[in-house]
Order: sequence, then C-alpha cells, then structure tokens
Amino acid sequence: MLRKSLPLIIICLFLYSCAQQTALPTGFESQAERAGKLSPATNEQDGAVLYATHCASCHRSLEKSIKKDRTVSRIHSAIRHFSAMRNLDFLTIQQLRAISAVLKQP
Ligand code: HEC
Repeated sequence: MLRKSLPLIIICLFLYSCAQQTALPTGFESQAERAGKLSPATNEQDGAVLYATHCASCHRSLEKSIKKDRTVSRIHSAIRHFSAMRNLDFLTIQQLRAISAVLKQP
C-alpha cells in the first residue's frame, strides 16, 4: 500500500512546493504594480493619480481644482495651446479621458 502511494505523496509534495513558489512572485508583481501606480512613467489610467501627478501643481488638488468639469477636447486643446502645458502632450487620449472623468466629480 505504502509503496503505491509513496510516489503519489512525492508528486503531491512537489506540486505543493511549486504552488508555493508561484504564489510568491505573483504577490510580488501585484506589489510592483501598485508601486507603479505612483510612477508618472507608467501608462496609468487612474484619473485621480494622473491629475495629482500632472495637473495639481498648477491647478490645485483635485478636490479644489480650478479646472473642474473640463471636457477631454478642452484639456487636449489646452495642452496644444498653452505653453505651460505643452510638455504634457505625452498623455494619451485614454489618460485625458480618465482625468476629465474625475474632474466631473463634484
Ligand atoms: C505648468 C503648469 C500647468 C500644468 C502642470 C497644467 N496646466 Fe492647465 N493650464 C496652465 C495655464 C497657465 C493655463 C492657461 C491659464 C488658465 O486657464 O488657467 C492652463 C489652462 C488649462 C485649461 C484651459 C482653460 C480652462 O480653464 O478650461 C485646461 C482645461 C487645463 N489647463 C487643464 C489642465 C489639466 C487637466 C492638466 C493636467 C493634465 C493641466 N492643466 C496641467 C498651466 C498648467
């Protein structure tokens, strides 16, 4: 009986240790992802984070923003027309949408 089940036990232990090993990197990745949220270099879609990173320095914090309720096209044209904002032209249309969406919130 033991002879038959021993390989099975070994396989189970092996699989278990593999599962443990894969569990660690996944946890690590999500931590890295979370850290990446704070980095302006990532293709972040979180409007609040984007606003805080790229707009708040000139237009106040999101809560007290002087640019509430701005459409995507208005932000886009501001980036094209105001020299102070021109260096923000790397923001994607999706990112501008995300920013516009959070600016709509009261
Ligand atoms: C370096 C400073 C600076 C940063 C950073 C900045 N802006 Fe501006 N922005 C200005 C200036 C200066 C104007 C022109 C004067 C004004 O309207 O306040 C302007 C104008 C605008 C306008 C057009 C005018 C209006 O009131 O509708 C919008 C919209 C706008 N900004 C939104 C944003 C958003 C969204 C961000 C972040 C992606 C941002 N700005 C980042 C300086 C900045």
